[in-house]
Amino acid sequence: MHDASFTEHRAHGLDASAPSPFAPRPTADGATALRERYGAWAVVTGASDGIGREFAIRLAASGLDVVLVARRAAVLAELGAFIESTYDVRATVVAVDLARADGVRELARRTEELDVGLLVAAAGFGTAGRFIDGILEDELEMIDVNCRAVAALTHHYGARFAKQRRGGIVLLSSLVAFQGVPRAANYAATKAYVQSLAEGIRSELGPAGVDVVSCAPGPISSGFGKRARMNMSLSLGPEAVAQAPIEALGKRGTVRPGWLSKVLEWSLALLPRWGRVRMMGIVMGGMTKHLA
Ligand SMILES: NC(=O)c1ccc[n+]([C@@H]2O[C@H](COP(=O)([O-])OP(=O)(O)OC[C@H]3O[C@@H](n4cnc5c(N)ncnc54)[C@H](OP(=O)(O)O)[C@@H]3O)[C@@H](O)[C@H]2O)c1
Repeated sequence: MHDASFTEHRAHGLDASAPSPFAPRPTADGATALRERYGAWAVVTGASDGIGREFAIRLAASGLDVVLVARRAAVLAELGAFIESTYDVRATVVAVDLARADGVRELARRTEELDVGLLVAAAGFGTAGRFIDGILEDELEMIDVNCRAVAALTHHYGARFAKQRRGGIVLLSSLVAFQGVPRAANYAATKAYVQSLAEGIRSELGPAGVDVVSCAPGPISSGFGKRARMNMSLSLGPEAVAQAPIEALGKRGTVRPGWLSKVLEWSLALLPRWGRVRMMGIVMGGMTKHLA
């Protein structure tokens, strides 16, 4: 089953030399603890690729049933089959477009009867180049997916979790969230929104038994670079991301997973904000020099 999935996965056109995203992950320490702490089901958006898929597999390895959310139903179904055949958990697919308000409503409706205790909101995408040269519809769609859907999902599941007095929420921020970023200005602004939202609701929801973590990775090789048209040659794999935020639930508010995000954080830490903007402009200039 694993070999077959891997072969099919390669057929999707991903790098054959990369570690298979479908390789089973080791069961985490305290696996059943996560299920007992939050409930049986985790909702993972962006599960068809990259970081979200990695979260889905890790959480399944930790004993949680998973709701797999993205637009590509066939890819989600393949992942769900892999998860169910590899781990002793259930996987269900909800294929929706989170850029649309009815996509978020459909997900809420489809999970109404499930004992959901964890939300990982990883669906998102980026754009690159000078803001005024981009297509406005793409920029607004990015706000819809990266911000509007995250707000709606966090509002919905946050309220559910607070009512049941237990739950966990992981939001995908980014290294770019902590200052303006020339040539990825709107993308960085969407991630600043997510970072700020996570920090604020962490304090609000903590007393209600709901743990909130913001996950702020550096460059990760995934479907992201292609869609954003960014050169991601210096990057880590998605497997560097998921474990640390899961372990941070209930302990820390922001996690910067992987050595690369830490190196980049340290290299920016002593600069004033304007200096960080300038430095990120240089970095992003290198990642987008193929664009006008
Ligand atoms: N890669 C990086 O360098 C990096 C660094 C920091 C933060 N992040 C953040 O991490 C998150 C995941 O990124 P990634 O690297 O895993 O990118 P990815 O490999 O491109 O995956 C993005 C996921 O989001 C889903 N998605 C995109 N638009 C959607 C929509 N309208 N409705 C529903 N699902 C949608 C995609 O699925 P479908 O196409 O099937 O819909 C896919 O599953 C994003 O929020 C990103 O901003 C990424």
